[in-house]
Amino acid sequence: MKHYLQFKDCTADEYGYLLGRAAFIKKKFKAYEKHHTLADRTLAMIFEKASTRTRVSFEAGMYQLGGSVVHLTTGDSQLGRAEPIEDSAKVISRMTDLVMIRTYEQTKIERFAAHSRVPVINGLTNEFHPCQILADLFTLVEHRPAASGAPLDAIQGKVVAWVGDGNNMANTWLQAAELLGFTVHISTPRGYEVSASTAGISSTSCYKVFDNPLDACRGAHLVTTDVWTSMGYEAENEVRRTAFADWCVNTEMMAVAQPDALFMHCLPAHRGEEVTAEVIDGPQSVVWDEAENRMHAQKALMEYLLLGQLA
Ligand code: CP
Ligand code: NVA
Repeated sequence: MKHYLQFKDCTADEYGYLLGRAAFIKKKFKAYEKHHTLADRTLAMIFEKASTRTRVSFEAGMYQLGGSVVHLTTGDSQLGRAEPIEDSAKVISRMTDLVMIRTYEQTKIERFAAHSRVPVINGLTNEFHPCQILADLFTLVEHRPAASGAPLDAIQGKVVAWVGDGNNMANTWLQAAELLGFTVHISTPRGYEVSASTAGISSTSCYKVFDNPLDACRGAHLVTTDVWTSMGYEAENEVRRTAFADWCVNTEMMAVAQPDALFMHCLPAHRGEEVTAEVIDGPQSVVWDEAENRMHAQKALMEYLLLGQLA
């Protein structure tokens, strides 16, 4: 049994398969062709934080695969009344085939997984957001395919500029860079840096740090950012607004990136904070495809965790 708790829980070969499979699944979806590989399977979704994209993409995706979903939140389950996570894992995993969890500490999802009879997927923790990076890479491959047609060839050697918080998204980009062979140019305000140990990477060679966000964007194939204040850190909102004021992706930053550079944002976005409206609503932005691709990529992931590689 395989869990997907961090990006590095899959190998490069598995990502090669998943990205190809996501494209196949998306094509069938667009052609209104049935694809019921998970008929009679049930996904439990546990949300301890808010969500729009993750909820809709997993729920719609599972129905499209012929399965069904159970949606739980801290407020409407015993999870919010201090039932031990281990007990919840034992019970929920006896009744469902797959579990997706969005929560706070990574250790919480790890404890759940350790007591689960079924695969567990990380739908965002304080430390990581692997499903989002899977979708982002799928979007990159889709928009900038390699001549060979191989998904991993479209990713290898690329430069991704990360402008903003050294958060769950930044950590996951670093894991992806180390595993798939690209470089992250990272610029965060002082005090919000990434660290190799928190990111769970073995060396610092997959990323370069820049004090000035403009320098991080120079020559990048993809420029990406995220909110200044992630869920769970709301108490720091005011301090962060001051600290992050210069970490706003604007047209000047996009102008020093590659001429055909893409802009991505996991969303939700705050125009005028981490990105200008001109950039996120501009021609280089692929944020709507990126959001939609959560569903196609996660359908490939759910199918893979339950059935392994198919044709
Ligand atoms: N990007 C993302 O995970 O969005 P939601 O918080 O809406 O799920
Ligand atoms: N870093 C953000 C991502 C939201 C999808 C957060 O954790 O709130």
